[in-house]
Amino acid sequence: MYYSKSPKPRRSAVEQYYEATRGFNTIVYNYLIHSKIEKFLLDNQPTQGWGAFYPRLIANAAIIHDLYFELYGAHPQGQAEFDNLLLTMARAFQNRGADLQARDLEKAQQDHWFLSNEIAGMSLYVDRFCGNLKKLPEKLAYLKRLGVNFLHLMPIFESPEDESDGGYAVSDFRKVDKRFGTLADLQKVRQKMADENMYLMLDIVLNHTSHHHEWAKRAKAGEIAYQDYFHFYDDRTLPDLFEQTMPDIFPEASPGSFSYVLELKKYVMTVFHHYQWDLNYANPRVLVDMLDNIFFYANLGVDILRIDAPAFIWKQLGTTCQNLPQAHTLLRLIKQCVAVATPGMALLGEAIVAPQEIMKYFGTEHFTARECDFAYNATQMALQWDALATGDTRVMLAAQPLLQQKPMGTSWITYTRCHDDIGLGYDDWMIAQAGFEAYEHRKFIKDYYSGSYEGSPAVGALFSVNPKTQDARISGSLASLCGLEKAAQESDNQAISLSIQKILLMQAQSFFLGGVPMLFYGDEVGYTNDYSYLNDEAKNYDNRWMHRPIIDWKKNKRIDIAQSIENQVFSGTQKLLTIRKKLPEVADLKNLTWLSPHNKHIAAYVRNLGNKKLFCLFNFSNRLTPLTWYIFRELGDNPTKVYEHWREKTYSVGKDYEHLLLEPYHFYLFEAEV
Ligand code: GLC
Repeated sequence: MYYSKSPKPRRSAVEQYYEATRGFNTIVYNYLIHSKIEKFLLDNQPTQGWGAFYPRLIANAAIIHDLYFELYGAHPQGQAEFDNLLLTMARAFQNRGADLQARDLEKAQQDHWFLSNEIAGMSLYVDRFCGNLKKLPEKLAYLKRLGVNFLHLMPIFESPEDESDGGYAVSDFRKVDKRFGTLADLQKVRQKMADENMYLMLDIVLNHTSHHHEWAKRAKAGEIAYQDYFHFYDDRTLPDLFEQTMPDIFPEASPGSFSYVLELKKYVMTVFHHYQWDLNYANPRVLVDMLDNIFFYANLGVDILRIDAPAFIWKQLGTTCQNLPQAHTLLRLIKQCVAVATPGMALLGEAIVAPQEIMKYFGTEHFTARECDFAYNATQMALQWDALATGDTRVMLAAQPLLQQKPMGTSWITYTRCHDDIGLGYDDWMIAQAGFEAYEHRKFIKDYYSGSYEGSPAVGALFSVNPKTQDARISGSLASLCGLEKAAQESDNQAISLSIQKILLMQAQSFFLGGVPMLFYGDEVGYTNDYSYLNDEAKNYDNRWMHRPIIDWKKNKRIDIAQSIENQVFSGTQKLLTIRKKLPEVADLKNLTWLSPHNKHIAAYVRNLGNKKLFCLFNFSNRLTPLTWYIFRELGDNPTKVYEHWREKTYSVGKDYEHLLLEPYHFYLFEAEV
């Protein structure tokens, strides 16, 4: 690695002054930094002036400088690359279309536009959903009918088909893969979506590139400057040391974290698959180049940028190489640069790590709510699967005090399924608090969803079993894990109805919790597992493909056949999204309160705004379950009548000692005026 081997460079007087005052000048005016930046702006002044960029840069200059030099202060190229970083930001602003600049201002006026209850998303593979980008615009009507106005297009940039990890091994960050179409096709999709008031999310795969990326090819060809883009080692000494503390991410498909590069007779760090080379962010050139790619996506009109695997971006010997403080510094730096040059683009950090660690991606201390705008609520997602298997919501409840620490101004992506596996990543103490033993409890959940627990209706599989620790995650589609695959195979109508009820229960809980709901394509019509990946050599080593369906539009058309499975799942999902959009109290404004566990089978929370309170109740039991009417008075209110949005019915609130009876796997959305 270049950074660790280079001698300490001499410091200029300015740098020495800065070093001495570091920590004191964050956020405030700093003559040395500001005069330097003023000079830069004057020297590079475009004919139309700097417009809104000027005050934004001046306001954030000291922070950007501080964060950058915290990482690169000792690097010989540190100063030169800082100048490049400023230029990159300036160019990004200059290349930002007038429409996007206008949208930036519009979004700024809405004050955290992304907290709205009116945004609902879907994540989809363009090729598996509709063939290619050209055909996507004609599917927007279907999505809008469902209530989806935000699309996450799974990676569409160039990636070798046989070594792609679903597009997360990118060989060209700026070229749309020909399988999907062209950049012009993407721009048309974006324009059409903007015309329809829809939002767009794309990924930046920040942690690694494909080994076919130009940087990797030049590294293989012997160019030292490009070898410094990655983590190379001459022999196994350091890789062996690293591996003592780095957990295996794909222990079955790609054990270890290093791969041998024949051309160079060296080892390169590959935390994920052997064909995904980890980028070396200790080299500031890598940061600046990747920031340039981030701005390229911003200027395509991306509304939310999904930062893939941010937990992994900084490596340090003797650590897990995950969630390191420097990874947060990098993300904060990226956030401030985006806030200056392309502020309308929000950032989602895809950190699927321990609950406490996920929370840190929203920023801490000075940077609270100034790191990632979004994170996946992966803890809650997994806990819903936990509750569905056990019929007991106590582990879920134990996690809430921690999850509720999410700062105002940030939000969750809430979901039940996505393209990845389900990791049971919640903490042991949460399980213990519910009275269970962690190892046995997780074993039960894994067995329940992977077919080893007799009587389980779920059909799924274990993903990435670690033979050393027996750790494993779970693959399977929402419908199959909720029992639909088995029920349909056995033509058991009662079980089919129950599985549909479970699907809607899972969706409802994630839709009303606060955050932007993200559906996974196919789940809106109940796609079960697809085993065709087993016949494809480029995919059969990765069972996550079982829950990444190829859409058969004849099947999806069945949404119009009354009482078909597709119709029931689609119309239920659609109704939930319609209700959600009508209720401003569902916006994510730190307005969520979990209620006492009056009955361990029922999860209950309240969303409130003004004089409205929405009581959301979810029965995870397979039995009719009683709940005291006191639940509506628990927060000090005394409503006499409540309106239930799903059943469209008004209920009179009973006495404390009387009970409301909740049907198996049903949910209730009671609104009270207080
Ligand atoms: C993210 C993606 C996952 C991919 C990994 C490596 O976690 O969601 O699909 O395998 O990053 O890029």
